[in-house]
Amino acid sequence: MSSSAQIGVTGLAVMGRNLARNFARNGYPVALHNRTVERTRTLVEEFGHEGDFVPAETAKEFVEALERPRRLVIMVKAGDPTDAVIQEFAPLLERGDMIIDGGNAHFADTRRRERELREQGIHFVGAGISGGEEGALHGPSIMPGGSPESYESLGPMLEKIAAKAADGTPCVSHVGPDGAGHFVKMVHNGIEYADMQLIGEAYQLLRDVAGYSPAQIAEIFRTWNTGRLDSYLIEITAEVLSHVDAATGRPFVDIVQDRAEQKGTGRWTVQIALDLGVPVSGIAEAVFARSLSGHIDLRDASRGLAGPKAAPLGEAEAAAFADRVEQALYASKIVSYTQGFHEIAAGSAEYGWDIDLGAVSSLWRGGCIIRAAFLDRIRAAYDARRDLPSLLSDDTFAQEIAAAQDDWREVLIAAVRQGVPTPGFAAALAYYDALRAERLPAALTQGQRDYFGAHTYRRTDREGSFHTLWGGDRSEVSA
Ligand code: 6PG
Repeated sequence: MSSSAQIGVTGLAVMGRNLARNFARNGYPVALHNRTVERTRTLVEEFGHEGDFVPAETAKEFVEALERPRRLVIMVKAGDPTDAVIQEFAPLLERGDMIIDGGNAHFADTRRRERELREQGIHFVGAGISGGEEGALHGPSIMPGGSPESYESLGPMLEKIAAKAADGTPCVSHVGPDGAGHFVKMVHNGIEYADMQLIGEAYQLLRDVAGYSPAQIAEIFRTWNTGRLDSYLIEITAEVLSHVDAATGRPFVDIVQDRAEQKGTGRWTVQIALDLGVPVSGIAEAVFARSLSGHIDLRDASRGLAGPKAAPLGEAEAAAFADRVEQALYASKIVSYTQGFHEIAAGSAEYGWDIDLGAVSSLWRGGCIIRAAFLDRIRAAYDARRDLPSLLSDDTFAQEIAAAQDDWREVLIAAVRQGVPTPGFAAALAYYDALRAERLPAALTQGQRDYFGAHTYRRTDREGSFHTLWGGDRSEVSA
């Protein structure tokens, strides 16, 4: 078999198949491999006209079909299946070859794999790929980690198949070494969860407090999508809410079970944030909201608990309330992205990745699930000041949040009064208020910890650690 393929894809389920088609459509000869050979044959039969496919039935044939340095993309389930494929192919590769993992792998696994394969002279690239099946085919946002050398070889190809932002820039760049790419993809998914939770809360408020129908709310989201909330998630929300169930003629959203599932990347974002000491409260509330929705027995047992039932507003008030909800949604969205970028910065510092946050916001401008005009603004903020401590420190965002203050708080008051759960909005505002507070109750926490555990505390008026002799004369000693 001639070694003509410039890239190879193994794992031809929908994402892998579409990625292979994307490479072929962009003029690259693509070697194909799948554990079930039939899938490889079907792809060539159905899409062989789209480009130059080199089907291989065995791992050996697949590797032999690849030009040097070999570029081998793995598109299989995260975890053990990925390790199994690596173990199958690594012995067949030579120094300088590269394995690209395009799945949603945990970044710690990617760091391990990169380290192990580097010892064999093989580049391992953990590449987050966002945009689902359509994105894989038409242009995803791609977040590759791995060595700079691997990006020199891979970059031009990824830039050709990636989504393009409005200014034509490919939504891909080298995020950083080893697991940096999968880390950023993980945080992307965490922000995605937060975004979706905030949109869900806005929907519920417009439904229960404003009294709008799903179709009316869809129109509100369509209007919002022409302004600063312009984004893929707002766009598809309008589509989902305007959809009518063919079987019943009822709004689709009313016939779907309200139990959200999650494959796990949002959960990882929170787990890692806890380890890094980064408060991603908006993302955490989104993960917990999904979990709570699944506790059906608990919810059934709690249905009769005391509390208000929302009473819909009159027409004029409803329209004004909808405007307030837009402000609250936008302000809360700024906070969620602030928290997500804080986690990326913390991960970058922890693992020595030197991630450019402006570059990350730039490659999220197209192709990915959280793609939004908003990301242009974030990129501008980080381009203007690479060491920006927080998006909230950017003048433009700070001014927008200032303008949203009253509405944001009024919406939360209405939600609390009417008994509509808005954990995402509330967490975002609490985070914002905590950041700007003169004093936090953490002072009392330190006193309590010193009282029961002699864990010591620091004073506001002098250096050092101290302990109070709570069980004795309550004098203070230096610790
Ligand atoms: C993307 C998506 C994708 C996500 C799945 C499952 O960027 O294309 O984020 O990677 O993992 O859609 O999402 P859940 O975690 O909600 O199951």
